[in-house]
Amino acid sequence: MCGIVGYIGWREAAPLLLNGLKRLEYRGYDSAGIALLNGSLLVMKQKGSVSGLEVAAEGLSLDMQSATLGIGHTRWATHGEPSDNNAHPHKNALGDIAVIHNGIIENYSALKQELTAQGLIDKIWKSDQSLDLESATRSALRHVDGAYGICVISSREPDKIVVARKGSPLVIGIGTGEFFIASDAAPLIEHTNKVVYLSDGELAVITREGYTVKTIENIEQEKIITELDFSLEKIEKGGFEHFMLKEIFEQPAVMHDVMRGRVRLEEGRICLGGIEDYLDRLKHAKRIVICACGTSWHAALIGEYLIEEFARIPVEVDYASEFRYRNPIVGVDDVVIVISQSGETADTLAALRTAKEKGALVMGICNVVGSTIARETLCGMYTHAGPEVGVASTKAFTAQVIMLYMLALALSKGRTLSHDEIALNLKELSRIPEKATRILELESQIKDIAERFQGARNALYLGRGYNFPVALEGALKLKEISYIHAEGYPAAEMKHGPIALIDKDMPVIFIATRDSTYAKILSNIEEVRSRKGRVIAIANEGDQEVSRLAEHVIYIPQSSGPITPLLTVIPLQLLAYHIATFRGCNVDRPRNLAKSVTVE
Ligand code: G6P
Repeated sequence: MCGIVGYIGWREAAPLLLNGLKRLEYRGYDSAGIALLNGSLLVMKQKGSVSGLEVAAEGLSLDMQSATLGIGHTRWATHGEPSDNNAHPHKNALGDIAVIHNGIIENYSALKQELTAQGLIDKIWKSDQSLDLESATRSALRHVDGAYGICVISSREPDKIVVARKGSPLVIGIGTGEFFIASDAAPLIEHTNKVVYLSDGELAVITREGYTVKTIENIEQEKIITELDFSLEKIEKGGFEHFMLKEIFEQPAVMHDVMRGRVRLEEGRICLGGIEDYLDRLKHAKRIVICACGTSWHAALIGEYLIEEFARIPVEVDYASEFRYRNPIVGVDDVVIVISQSGETADTLAALRTAKEKGALVMGICNVVGSTIARETLCGMYTHAGPEVGVASTKAFTAQVIMLYMLALALSKGRTLSHDEIALNLKELSRIPEKATRILELESQIKDIAERFQGARNALYLGRGYNFPVALEGALKLKEISYIHAEGYPAAEMKHGPIALIDKDMPVIFIATRDSTYAKILSNIEEVRSRKGRVIAIANEGDQEVSRLAEHVIYIPQSSGPITPLLTVIPLQLLAYHIATFRGCNVDRPRNLAKSVTVE
């Protein structure tokens, strides 16, 4: 949510900042701005996308074009509408300090009254001439409550950038005689693969010669340099029209990557390195609570079904935002699993901290390596889905579900499932990438269906058992990117409300794969048909029964119930994608949404 970039070195800063902001645009795209320092300080900012700012930057003076130090921001509005004025960076009254802030300052109202037209850092700096930019920033941060990731530059100390974080992520990229700053690694990768992740409560001062990291309390910190292991190609569209489509199509490869080294088919066992030392404690947990938000929460629901079915350990799934505020009953005998693609979602992070305080064993399932959640959990597993740029999550979801599938099997070992049963499940899991590839081949059929339904105003997604969370996810995808109101429901619950909405204009998407509830689903389809609803069904290859009942059928390969979500979700992703593109929506940057929600 909101992206920060910064550069200090020997190259022209402006194009580097603008390029970096483009790579971060999935974090926010209401407005954008840069500040450049070359003797004097210039701020250029405006409402709208980075490409608009890029056009404006063509008019930069020669002096500013040759600036080799600057900061930049792409905004997702929390307080204050998107406007030129509310865009970052902000300057103090004198115009010699520029600040970028991500996050929410909760005591902003009190501070604003005190500071209108001056600026906190400026005020503190002026009140004590012995201070420098670093200590003035440090003092200022002691006055603010809430979350921040900030970048400060000043023409009074023209060769440094001061950055600090609490809640909002910041990474320093290390080059040769140059340093980069960013909210996540995406803008850094084309310049360096060496990074330092700042932790909460840390402040760094970066010059062309090096950097120092201290806590807000001024205690020096030893930082580890991490090597990034993804390439530029992974964050580019690679011939696809949108990142979302590319990421949908990456799923078979991602499925392989998630399983690589973990699924040992020949031995019929699973090896989960990140949790190996804690597996026993996990197996003996009184209860597992899974906390997440958005799409990750849908994966968590599937995880609940999987762990309870295979490992017979009671599981509860909670929205992270609810968990943290309802004084949950969790203790030392419980395991709390947090799932997050970005590893930075504010509510999920807070839920993790609450669980830790209460003594639970906290485990993470994250995609972004080195993210805050990954670092703060006691143990965990990376999904290895690669960078996900499309705001609507796709490949991260399937990777999370595979992770949970493997976890459920690992927890069953020696307890509820025999070696042979586990081996059989692993065999089925290993066939999933090939089946996913076959579903992707149905794209043109799905596109045709999308064309017919592009004008819908509402849509209903229905599924049962393992496919109920998939119905939720299908509906979320559609509303996120096409702005069509959509609801996901357990199919049988339809009769308790949504059936009232069904008429001749209402598309109803059924997930009707052959599993234990198949016959019931057929009855639900009949109920919709008799009210003239327009049925689109996801069914298994060879199913004639469904084709008799539905207006459109998307046939997918057969698989066992627990594994179907990995397949049934794919046509729903494609359907949402194509409906949205037919409607002319920007699927990679849906209005009002952000990829990484780092505020509450
Ligand atoms: C935002 C994104 C969703 C994502 C959710 C949780 O709403 O737009 O795609 O599912 O945050 O994010 P996380 O990174 O914690 O999985």
